[in-house]
Amino acid sequence: MAFTDKPHLILLFIMSSTIILFVSALDLSNGSTEIPSSGGDGFLPLAEKHVIIRNKVRNKQILNVHCKSSDDDFGMIHIPWNGTWSFRFHVNFWKTTKYHCHFTWYKGGSHYFYIFKASRDDKQFGDPPVCKECIWDVGRSDDYPICRIPREMGYLPYCFKWEDGP
Ligand SMILES: *[C@@H]1O[C@H](CO)[C@@H](O)[C@H](O)[C@H]1NC(C)=O
Ligand SMILES: *[C@@H]1O[C@H](CO)[C@@H](O)[C@H](O)[C@H]1NC(C)=O
Repeated sequence: MAFTDKPHLILLFIMSSTIILFVSALDLSNGSTEIPSSGGDGFLPLAEKHVIIRNKVRNKQILNVHCKSSDDDFGMIHIPWNGTWSFRFHVNFWKTTKYHCHFTWYKGGSHYFYIFKASRDDKQFGDPPVCKECIWDVGRSDDYPICRIPREMGYLPYCFKWEDGP
């Protein structure tokens, strides 16, 4: 019996190929996989992001940072005072990407903050605005100790409280 006598088989074949293609596209959302950038600063799916953390703690101690997402775990990083540490990734297809960090420093306590949340940092017309290079200063003040620094001159930093939670 000829294959063309079974149009439903052809349809099934087309459907399963589509599913396979879709699944391989999802694999590209792995943070460490290099894929062509899908559009500059965009809030587009799979936009590339660069998060930069600067140690500005007032007592000039080493800042210990441990950041992770559901896919990545960068381990414990020690940032010298006035130094920086950064990482890159792509926002996932569903824009649910989040990186949660734990910060400690001598006499600074133990604090948590989402250093990247697509719902805050990759939201069109959001406040703060979308960042491609997301620069954060840690520890400048006690009340609002973590600030996203706009790259353009003349804009004020967006400062937040720790998200230590219950
Ligand atoms: C994502 O990338 C890491 C590091 O390259 C690799 O170990 C891991 O298996 C990848 N995960 C998937 C789902 O491809
Ligand atoms: C802190 O780092 C910045 C940028 O590297 C540098 O310009 C500045 O002089 C440094 N400040 C101190 C007090 O070392």
